[in-house]
Amino acid sequence: MILKRHEPIAIFDSGIGGLSVLIEIKKILPYEKIIYLADKKKHPFGTRPKDEIEKIAYEIINFLISKNVKMIVIACNTASTIKLDDLRKEYEIPVIGMIEPEVVSQYINKFRGNSVGLIGTTATINSQAYDDVIKKLNTDIKLYSKDCSKLVPLIETGKIESDSFKEELNNCLSLLLSDGITNLIIGCTHFSFIIERINDLLGNNVNVFNPSRFVAHYVKEKLSHEGLLNSFREIYEPEYLITSKRDEFINTGHKMTSLAFKNLKLITI
Ligand code: DGL
Repeated sequence: MILKRHEPIAIFDSGIGGLSVLIEIKKILPYEKIIYLADKKKHPFGTRPKDEIEKIAYEIINFLISKNVKMIVIACNTASTIKLDDLRKEYEIPVIGMIEPEVVSQYINKFRGNSVGLIGTTATINSQAYDDVIKKLNTDIKLYSKDCSKLVPLIETGKIESDSFKEELNNCLSLLLSDGITNLIIGCTHFSFIIERINDLLGNNVNVFNPSRFVAHYVKEKLSHEGLLNSFREIYEPEYLITSKRDEFINTGHKMTSLAFKNLKLITI
């Protein structure tokens, strides 16, 4: 019988965004098996209504559970806004999202000043999930949120040099700068791949925080706490499961991350 701790960790997103979480997990947990699922057929999630996002997340999670994974990481802020406490009651394995108090608390103390910007999708911003977690951790923080959904499909298709991308990114960040932010949370995993550009546009007065790194630390802590760390010292190639647009995933994913995607399958959920 294969022990639970030798089973894979599942990571999912609507597309390439969650690869930023996969990379951070691989850095600190090199011996874990990983299944990465990109539900590109339903991309983007962030402009869909709440009940649809919930339905999509449940479908993906049920599919991943059938693969006998030991943990599910929702590497998508949008899907992390659904009621995870209710969802967790239905599953035996840990399900971790991007906006957990255990994740946000790792970077909230590093903020410079109390003005914090947040960029994310329409669903993430409207859910106020970040507002709720931050309020519980530090009531002095003032959060300025900006819906930057239009950037998501452009990143997913690799069109980050286009004029419409530059214009939209400038528009998102200049509004937050005029609010006087001194910190910025990258509230959509897709934006992890444009952090250098964000930093250049914001300048030295704004500290940028990417939750992908902090989620990875929480994943490690949780696995260790549950006795679920893999005890084999072997490096495994992640398995990539894609629901549509295989070539686009490989091309844009490689452009953004340099990953090779050697073990990739097109699937139906
Ligand atoms: N990468 C996702 C997020 O963090 C989803 C973007 C989308 O599908 O709209 O929100």
